Amino acid sequence: MTDSPDPLRKITTHTFRLKKQRGEALTMLTAYDYPTARAVDLAGIDSILVGDSLGMVVLGYENTLPVTMEDMLHHCRAVSRGASRALLIGDMPFMSYQVDTKEAVRNAGRFLQEAGMDAVKLEGGRERLDAVRAILNAGIPVLGHLGLTPQSIHQLGGFRAQGKSADAAEILLEDALMLDEAGCFGLVLESVPDRVATYITQRLQIPTIGIGAGSGCDGQVLVTHDLLGFFDRFTPKFVKQYAVFHEEIQKALLEFQKDVMERKFPGEEHTFSISDEEWELFINRAGEA
Ligand code: KIV
Repeated sequence: MTDSPDPLRKITTHTFRLKKQRGEALTMLTAYDYPTARAVDLAGIDSILVGDSLGMVVLGYENTLPVTMEDMLHHCRAVSRGASRALLIGDMPFMSYQVDTKEAVRNAGRFLQEAGMDAVKLEGGRERLDAVRAILNAGIPVLGHLGLTPQSIHQLGGFRAQGKSADAAEILLEDALMLDEAGCFGLVLESVPDRVATYITQRLQIPTIGIGAGSGCDGQVLVTHDLLGFFDRFTPKFVKQYAVFHEEIQKALLEFQKDVMERKFPGEEHTFSISDEEWELFINRAGEA
């Protein structure tokens, strides 16, 4: 009997391992709400990341730093109501795992216990190993995240590619090996030169999920709002826009505005009616009132 994947079966961290072994590409997209989670799940994407990119693409912040645990849990709950198949990963926000290990475990646990997530993601390498190990010891799967780690933008000097020197690439590789050894089930590599990402991918037991890290990673992740072209503002070099939603949205909104001004909306087909009999009764009573 062949062990071929069932398209309706819930994706688990075990599926991630299997796909890497089989050389099958993994797919991951972000979602922050119920309808997007439904759409991503229905499309058969392996995994949904409720990323702290929420802060930038939904809440309108300049970066991810202001996002809180309560923000994340609120959006994770909505996503978990919309998806049944994809592996659901909650992104631990800034300061929810950096201060102390116990707090990190407690916060990681809230993603599973209160918000329906299957796993958590956190940023960083050797400096976060204690937190990663403690969360794993509590039985919570962890996805690592190296390269451009947006919660450290002030330390990194902005949103810029990482691992571009031999020294930096070596540190990246060491960190990746440590996260693999610690027991993470996968690793996001963000904004890393493709040759470096491919080499790291080949050295790891666990799958790498690239974003701006070239085609040599085991899988790819994008921010869904970028992929759908939700904004007319700057999009990073590594984004491929598969739709231009902001144009469609503007078109629809302008049409609504025009229809209302010209009294073309609502039409009869959007309107409820009352029978002549009930209308007569009402008018007679209303006159007496
Ligand atoms: O927050 C996020 O959406 C992420 C992805 C870009 C990997 O961390």
